[in-house]
Amino acid sequence: MRWVVVGAKGMLGQDLVRRLAAQDVQVTALGRDDLDVTDEGAARTALVGADVVVNCAAYTAVDAAEADEAAAFAVNATGAAIVARAARGARLVQISTDYVFDGAAASPYAEDAAIAPRSAYGRTKAAGEWAVRAEHPDALVVRTAWLYGAGGGCFPKTIARVAAERGGLDVVDDQVGQPTWTADLADLVVRLIDAHAPAGTYHGTSAGRVSWHGFAQAVVASAGLDPAVAAPTTSEAFVRPAPRPAYSVLGHDALRAAGVAPIGPWEDRWAAAAGEVLAG
Ligand SMILES: NC(=O)c1ccc[n+]([C@@H]2O[C@H](COP(=O)([O-])OP(=O)(O)OC[C@H]3O[C@@H](n4cnc5c(N)ncnc54)[C@H](OP(=O)(O)O)[C@@H]3O)[C@@H](O)[C@H]2O)c1
Repeated sequence: MRWVVVGAKGMLGQDLVRRLAAQDVQVTALGRDDLDVTDEGAARTALVGADVVVNCAAYTAVDAAEADEAAAFAVNATGAAIVARAARGARLVQISTDYVFDGAAASPYAEDAAIAPRSAYGRTKAAGEWAVRAEHPDALVVRTAWLYGAGGGCFPKTIARVAAERGGLDVVDDQVGQPTWTADLADLVVRLIDAHAPAGTYHGTSAGRVSWHGFAQAVVASAGLDPAVAAPTTSEAFVRPAPRPAYSVLGHDALRAAGVAPIGPWEDRWAAAAGEVLAG
């Protein structure tokens, strides 16, 4: 088995490469310097002979995308299509996002719920999903959300640093989601492939739900500080260029139907991850 990880130097890509090192498989890790996903010829050459391709490459600067949607589209939609075409002989996993939804739901989004992105980033990732399904009907589209990991800048690292530096901070309490460890998502991708999961859309997030403020309190406690240093605030008081979904809770029925166990509750997973992530 030969796995190719595209976008291998990103936060998820690094943990996937690490996870695959524990498997009896050959792994080719392609960072942006090795493969720019907007280069069709290079993708065709790089993916020859792959059995499994995981596309972790993305334009992830959510706020910057509002001012330059074309740049985000080139990577998240056109680039995804290019990888999908070049990966036709292989199983393909395309990583997508909760931002394809509008965040207005009151119960977990099913995998086949209508998408309605509200941000430029979300629109480009939604276009990427469609492109991948069109170019590679056997693909698995795995939507994730609220990712954190040792190998990248992420919410827990920022919160722990700011709490330590300033001794107090305001965190929005009116957006809820499922904090998800990149190591858990990497493991889920491997388990989906090992289980020969059918083509389709899956949700790769932790179970349960929490607000950013609630998550910040857990982070601060893990960093050995008083959780009270994180004070609740509202999205209205914390406006950013791209709108954030208020409700980013994803359902996991497709995983269960494929016989693949979803990731566990976010609290347990954060407890397992905190030491490594905050040290990273
Ligand atoms: N982080 C989250 O909270 C979150 C939430 C939902 C979904 N996701 C999705 O999860 C996946 C992994 O995200 P992540 O957090 O690991 O993101 P990340 O750390 O930003 O990694 C993305 C990687 O893609 C690379 N890249 C950008 N443009 C490229 C191009 N044209 N060709 C090749 N590589 C390119 C980036 O390289 P440079 O750094 O050199 O630009 C970076 O190494 C993405 O599909 C993202 O949309 C993330």
